[in-house]
Amino acid sequence: MDFFLDTADLNEIKELSDLKIISGITTNPSLMSKLGIKGKQNWNNHYKKICSLIDGPVSAEVISTSYDEIIDEGLELSKLNKNIVVKVPMINDGIKAISFFSKNKIKTNCTLVFSPIQALIAAKAGATYVSPFIGRLDDIGENGLDLIESIRIIFDNYNMTTKILGASIRSNTHIEHCAEIGADVITAPYQTLKKITYHKLTDSGLKKFLDDYNKTMV
Ligand code: G3P
Repeated sequence: MDFFLDTADLNEIKELSDLKIISGITTNPSLMSKLGIKGKQNWNNHYKKICSLIDGPVSAEVISTSYDEIIDEGLELSKLNKNIVVKVPMINDGIKAISFFSKNKIKTNCTLVFSPIQALIAAKAGATYVSPFIGRLDDIGENGLDLIESIRIIFDNYNMTTKILGASIRSNTHIEHCAEIGADVITAPYQTLKKITYHKLTDSGLKKFLDDYNKTMV
């Protein structure tokens, strides 16, 4: 399972990319707007900067919701860097656009997926990734991990190559269950991934090893 970082913050990307913890980035309009970047040209320049920090897939989301505009926007985004994955919302025009991009060898990430059927439709259209939002389903009292499990079964039934990208991750437990179920990728926030290697017994065990070593260095 691959680990992607869900952020548009360049410092966070650089840190976790250098540590080799992540191999890709997902962004969305909310994450981009948090940075205070104004204007389309500046957004595009920012996507280019992200791509310069990591040699892996970088999801950049279209803002348009009608087919023709999604195509124009997606083509523009795809030209920014070879690693750009055009992120398209799970709406009818989005599915049609994903089919177009797929035929033109442009990678896509179908976002805002909340049901197994939505994932199946996106995969049939040729999406490279589908992004089921686990945490947001948990937030409304449903079980987001059940969605990942259903999509895994469906994709395996039909040998579908679309990758399941577990998104809206809230905890390490989400990540562990995604790996057990067989998600292909998870994307998680910086605060979650920066402490992904932590375990209190690792820290206390390391301290004891170093203390014991230092006792011999008289
Ligand atoms: O980027 C899509 C997804 O990961 C958003 O997560 O925390 O806003 O539900 P969240």
